[in-house]
Amino acid sequence: MLRKITTWAAALTCTALVPTVQASGDAVAGETAAKQMCAACHGADGNSPAPNFPSLAGQVPGYVADQLARFKSGERENAVMAGIAQPLTPEQMANLDAYFSSQEVKPGAVPEEDKESAERGGWLYRGGYAPMDVAACMSCHGPSGHGVPRRYPRVSGQKREYLEQQLLAFKSGQRPSYGNIMTSIAFRMSAQQIKDVSAYMHALQ
Ligand code: HEC
Ligand code: HEC
Repeated sequence: MLRKITTWAAALTCTALVPTVQASGDAVAGETAAKQMCAACHGADGNSPAPNFPSLAGQVPGYVADQLARFKSGERENAVMAGIAQPLTPEQMANLDAYFSSQEVKPGAVPEEDKESAERGGWLYRGGYAPMDVAACMSCHGPSGHGVPRRYPRVSGQKREYLEQQLLAFKSGQRPSYGNIMTSIAFRMSAQQIKDVSAYMHALQ
């Protein structure tokens, strides 16, 4: 498994050399745009008000801009975000990125009845699941789920339903992922494991 991760990491480093969007944006301009165009669904400070809309606050720098570019090109399919990303220039994407990545994400919590599920998710997150060759999530998303710029997104504090939906979308192949990393990981996860690990990541700080 370790060897595979090293190979993936090397592949990612290579893709990272191809500049897709401007490296750093203007957070002040980004804030104005965010409040006009994104607040209704992602929250004015990037903490989403709805369980199935992702929070963007505290996301690793570069990730928001990259995903906007992918929605715009159609590589990542979503009707709502395609329409929103369409008119944005690379500069505007970089500004929005600078704003959201500088905000703080509010930690989530799991209700009492889901504590056991989240605990099982924690084992998977930290240790992976060897029988199915599922890598430890921690090895790329970090022990606290803060992610690594700019390819590995923050997952801690992320909305639970959103996390679950994305893992299911990777599993079915509906959402593409760099080097098929998440596609092949999610493919080997059960629906229960996806639920468990999503509950864990949501409450992780
Ligand atoms: C009408 C609601 C709506 C608005 C307005 C909206 N979004 Fe989204 N956004 C969504 C939904 C729904 C998703 C989840 C898409 C999916 O399932 O792939 C999403 C996903 C995203 C993602 C991917 C997050 C991740 O963790 O991968 C980014 C980045 C994003 N939006 C940025 C923006 C920005 C920047 C704006 C404003 C310019 C904006 N969105 C406005 C609904 C919205
Ligand atoms: C080898 C590195 C690697 C490992 C291990 C890994 N991930 Fe990922 N993960 C990624 C990358 C890269 C992305 C960005 C995917 C993309 O959009 O192309 C990602 C994206 C995600 C997303 C989408 C986040 C968002 O904001 O939309 C979720 C959820 C996720 N991973 C969960 C997991 C879970 C759960 C595990 C463990 C079972 C895991 N990952 C293991 C590299 C990894």
